[in-house]
Amino acid sequence: MAKSRTSFVCQNCGAVAQKWQGKCESCSEWNSMVEEGGSAGIGAQAVAGLRKGRIFALEGLSTVTEQPARVVSGIAELDRVTGGGFVPGSVLLMAGEPGIGKSTLLIQTCARLADMNRRVVYISGEEAVAQVRLRAQRLGLAKAAVELAAETSVEDVIATLMQGRPPALVVIDSIQTMWTEKVETTPGTVTQVRASAQALIRYAKTTGATVILVGHVTKDGQVAGPRVVEHMVDAVLSFEGEGGHHFRILRALKNRFGPTDEIGVFEMTGLGLSEVANPSAMFLAGRDASAPGAAVLASMEGARPVLVEVQALVAPTALGTPRRSVVGWDPARLSMILAVLEAHGGLRLGQHDVYLNIAGGLRVSEPAADLAAAAALVSSLTGAMLPRTAVYFGEIGLSGSVRPVVHANLRMKEAAKLGFSSAVAPFVKREEGETPPLQVAACEHISKLIADIAASGARAGQGRPRAV
Ligand code: TYD
Ligand code: MG
Repeated sequence: MAKSRTSFVCQNCGAVAQKWQGKCESCSEWNSMVEEGGSAGIGAQAVAGLRKGRIFALEGLSTVTEQPARVVSGIAELDRVTGGGFVPGSVLLMAGEPGIGKSTLLIQTCARLADMNRRVVYISGEEAVAQVRLRAQRLGLAKAAVELAAETSVEDVIATLMQGRPPALVVIDSIQTMWTEKVETTPGTVTQVRASAQALIRYAKTTGATVILVGHVTKDGQVAGPRVVEHMVDAVLSFEGEGGHHFRILRALKNRFGPTDEIGVFEMTGLGLSEVANPSAMFLAGRDASAPGAAVLASMEGARPVLVEVQALVAPTALGTPRRSVVGWDPARLSMILAVLEAHGGLRLGQHDVYLNIAGGLRVSEPAADLAAAAALVSSLTGAMLPRTAVYFGEIGLSGSVRPVVHANLRMKEAAKLGFSSAVAPFVKREEGETPPLQVAACEHISKLIADIAASGARAGQGRPRAV
């Protein structure tokens, strides 16, 4: 028989070392090494042949498994993101920065479900019951039969939940404030968060209740806590928004029971979060189409087309090194577009400050924004207005070519719905006999984009002589 030796296992990443170390070499976590018996590692026993394993039956993929009915919240934007409602027995993590509106959205969800005669329990570890009640009253939800408690002990919470009718939904606000007696570290530490989440997940799986764990993250998502439970939960919903703007986006980052490319759009109002069924109209509200430097981008947020305005300001610089400033888009992408405009479009931007902004506070990350950004930049530089009723989408390559992007038809349909009549885009593949929702002004190279903008500016008598 193999000699039994002790080893030290990191509780954070699972790395095994022969000697105790203050800091795990593999994940750099401090004080995470715990002594375990020599045959304690995963698979150790089976390999050592100490115990003969139990034989279980293997099943085929074709076995029909009955899908349990989902718990539909009635908040369409939320149900869309969860993939059609909450799956009984599933655990969701709702992650977001503090103050973004997680508690507000969840108390609204609870109230909706309670109104449908489901049992819902809201456990707040952060606010007193009176505070939660006060907020609910302000939202006009005071009559909803939501069961409230301010508790932080996981054991007490589970014992309480086990009593009476099994709840359909349990909200734990937040997982960082929960603690379990099973581990000795203080609340909020990785070990506590993970152990508490594990206990609540076990509760959900055994009782069929849906559990939503709220997790605070900082801008870079680094705070100890929510990230460590991501792999344990069934779905991770991220609640995002830009400071100073009222709209919020709920995004599924992971979903074992639905798609991950759906988003839900909400607006924070004095009466809580209201659903935004038509985000494009909201982002384009207040658009000033009478000034150069603004292009409408037909963008995709997940599986949903969203129109936003890309604004650019190009002005002669007073500094030695011109400024480049971007809000809502990737600065590296802007540098690339500027380089391409100089190299293949013949523009001179070295003596100009460049500012680029996605209006409304949305963050755009897809390459389809390239063409809209380029159009806005050229328009601002030349002083030539872009057509009011045109949308732009296309990816710009380093050679100056404009490449097609996915979902061209969805983008154009959305634009047509909002009254746009043309699209500036690379070649759009068309099905036989299909009429495109918009008139397409094909643009396969940025030199064509620049020439078209200059020509339309000249026709309208706009533009500055120093242009292009
Ligand atoms: P909250 O749900 O407490 O955020 P989180 O739980 O994510 O930390 O929301 C806090 C913010 O929302 C707060 O700054 C005020 C604002 N708010 C409104 O604008 N309208 C409302 O009706 C409510 C309830 C909150
Ligand atoms: Mg909160």
